[in-house]
Amino acid sequence: MTQAKASGAGLRILVSAGPTYEDIDPVRFIGNRSSGKMGFAVAEAAARSGARVVLVAGPVALPTPPGVTRLDVRSAAQMHEAVLGQLPADIYIGAAAVADFTPRQVAGSKIKKREGESGLTLDLVRTPDILAEVAGHAARPRLVVGFAAETDEVERYARDKLARKRLDLIAANRVGVAGSGFESDDNALTVYWTDGQRALGPAPKTVLAGQLLELILERLPAG
Ligand code: C5P
Repeated sequence: MTQAKASGAGLRILVSAGPTYEDIDPVRFIGNRSSGKMGFAVAEAAARSGARVVLVAGPVALPTPPGVTRLDVRSAAQMHEAVLGQLPADIYIGAAAVADFTPRQVAGSKIKKREGESGLTLDLVRTPDILAEVAGHAARPRLVVGFAAETDEVERYARDKLARKRLDLIAANRVGVAGSGFESDDNALTVYWTDGQRALGPAPKTVLAGQLLELILERLPAG
């Protein structure tokens, strides 16, 4: 049976994707392993569904999907500002791997190694939780979707995040699936909401993104 694809026509969908880089000095940064592929694929699927899509992208080497408006950022602070600046939206999909900590101060010049020094201590501070802030915002989108990258007790941690960050949906990487994860082209997700869940994939990230977008549009409350 072939089902008609859900339409995103008339919707404004905001997606964030990729890592963030937190500068330590002019040549070093703290980052994380994220290719941005999943978020870019979701943005592409959203544009294909007829939605107006804004993609806030951390530093990644990916082309802009057709029909998508892209805003490039580097740090968590910049991503925070760009995402909040794009509200209101009907749907927010937070697929970025935002750094949890950032140096309290960026050194103006390269930090030098000194003779006899055995280590270096960095003073880090927490970054703003963009997703939780969007979910608690006065202009909260009708549907807020997060991602959870967990290695164990996936459902427990994902559901905890769903409740704590006041999300509508959370997509967790299904671990133990060959080829799934950060830099791979294939992935498997389990999407959780308060009283349900659905397993998607394993499939190429582009196919999976289409399935995820279908589920998102299905779960969107009328508004
Ligand atoms: O709490 P944790 O980082 O595991 O949650 C992951 C989800 O929260 C992802 O959707 C990620 O984009 C979002 N997040 C965020 N801002 C942060 C940290 C995580 O939006 N500072």
